[in-house]
Amino acid sequence: MITKAKWLLLAAFVICFQSSRSQTGAYADKHRPQIHFSPKKGWMNDPNGMVYTNGKYHLFYQYYPDSTVWGPMHWGHAVSTDLVHWEELPIALYPDALGTIFSGSAVIDKNNTAGFGENAMVAIYTNHNHAMEKDGFDKIENQSIAYSLDEGKTWTKYKGNPVVPNPGIRDFRDPKVSWYEPAKKWIMTLAVTDHIDFYSSSDLKNWTKESEFGKDIGAHGGVWECPDLFPLSYNGEEIWVLIVNINPGGPNGGSATQYFTGKFDGHVFTPNETDTKWIDYGPDDYAGITWSNTGDRKIFLGWMSNWMYANIVPTEKWRSANTIARALALQKTGNTYLVSSLPVKELDTLHANTYEAKNIKAKKADITAKAGKLNGPAILKLSTDELKGFNITLSNNVGEKLVIGYNKTANQYFVDRSQSGKIDFHKDFGKHIMVPRFSATKNTDITLVIDNASVELFADKGLSVLTAVFFPSSDFTDVIITSTEGFVIKSLSFEHLNSAWK
Ligand code: FRU
Repeated sequence: MITKAKWLLLAAFVICFQSSRSQTGAYADKHRPQIHFSPKKGWMNDPNGMVYTNGKYHLFYQYYPDSTVWGPMHWGHAVSTDLVHWEELPIALYPDALGTIFSGSAVIDKNNTAGFGENAMVAIYTNHNHAMEKDGFDKIENQSIAYSLDEGKTWTKYKGNPVVPNPGIRDFRDPKVSWYEPAKKWIMTLAVTDHIDFYSSSDLKNWTKESEFGKDIGAHGGVWECPDLFPLSYNGEEIWVLIVNINPGGPNGGSATQYFTGKFDGHVFTPNETDTKWIDYGPDDYAGITWSNTGDRKIFLGWMSNWMYANIVPTEKWRSANTIARALALQKTGNTYLVSSLPVKELDTLHANTYEAKNIKAKKADITAKAGKLNGPAILKLSTDELKGFNITLSNNVGEKLVIGYNKTANQYFVDRSQSGKIDFHKDFGKHIMVPRFSATKNTDITLVIDNASVELFADKGLSVLTAVFFPSSDFTDVIITSTEGFVIKSLSFEHLNSAWK
């Protein structure tokens, strides 16, 4: 017979156990993102081999399990059915005699062109040879392939590796492969120091160089890395997008993702313009590329960090998370095509509760007084008929704050993390961060994705995008919108989200 006292003891034990579990659980650490993928432990950088098959989005990533700083690269592996809930799986690719496993891509070989089996998942990656590097050799980066017949669980490396040997160029890496239907061949887009090489192949094993692009075009403040090439349609017209990540040389310092729009004929990429455009102006969206095998839907994901400080951000068991998955689209301003990004609609699956309001005069609008304090991730959406200067301030009870807003004089959206908590690990972390406004309309819409350690701003239907991480000493709880210019919010929604890890 259980007495009342025993029940109380049992209840106390259960409460203690639950709270201690939530304190020590793999995803409950300080600064741990709740709606973004991060590895349980160890170091992560670029997303790799993103491919969709049999209802699952596969995410591989640059991974070093033995430390929280960059080291010998493996491909980590996670899967999701909805781009929001991720399951971390065992490591997919380990370093081998040809080197460690740098960035690359994966495809589903539907027609068995490589002979590894119908629908084989084939990874195309760079082997980076650190031993040869120490000896001063140049040919340290070579492209190799591996295949999996069980959805990425186990892999066989191709005996004939490397499939694209190094011609004597130090930075020669990050192959992104896609199927080019008009000529029924594979195209490899490769980052080569300060330009892109395009290769083609009928079987993923034998590659022919087609052309080069970009030596004198676009941004060149750093090394070109992690490219991607794909078509998007605009009112039925096919426009090709070439993504080129670059480090350093980004618009807010350090790493960033530039892109070009243009034509691709299976051999040559011809850009529409030669100036530089960025997918995301913020400091913390790097090495982003898109999923393969998703049909007309193009889904992009980046590494939510920056090589300026990635190795020293104040997290303990792990370092770095990815951005929210984003749907890419084209918009036209004048004669120019711009690539817009917005969070994927699947983020709605985390919906907990929403506060909605209309026609708010945002001289000082205390959002959390109405909607409830921030207690984890949230999405703030607002629209206005007339954009004026405003600030959205996230703050905690120890006087730290992050300010996101719009400066009308400069016509820029911005993030100010100068008082956001721990910032002294890098001299530039507290610097002003901005993204120009590209839309010329009077009205606007804004979506702000807020997690424990990041904000992602999508303004004007995703034309102006900015991602920034931050590390407050205790999580931000309050959200206030202020405007000295008398900004009127036509409609506002503040959505509390559930953690994706529960
Ligand atoms: C980009 C990058 C890639 C490389 C990988 C190494 O962040 O430098 O060019 O393949 O990281 O981890």
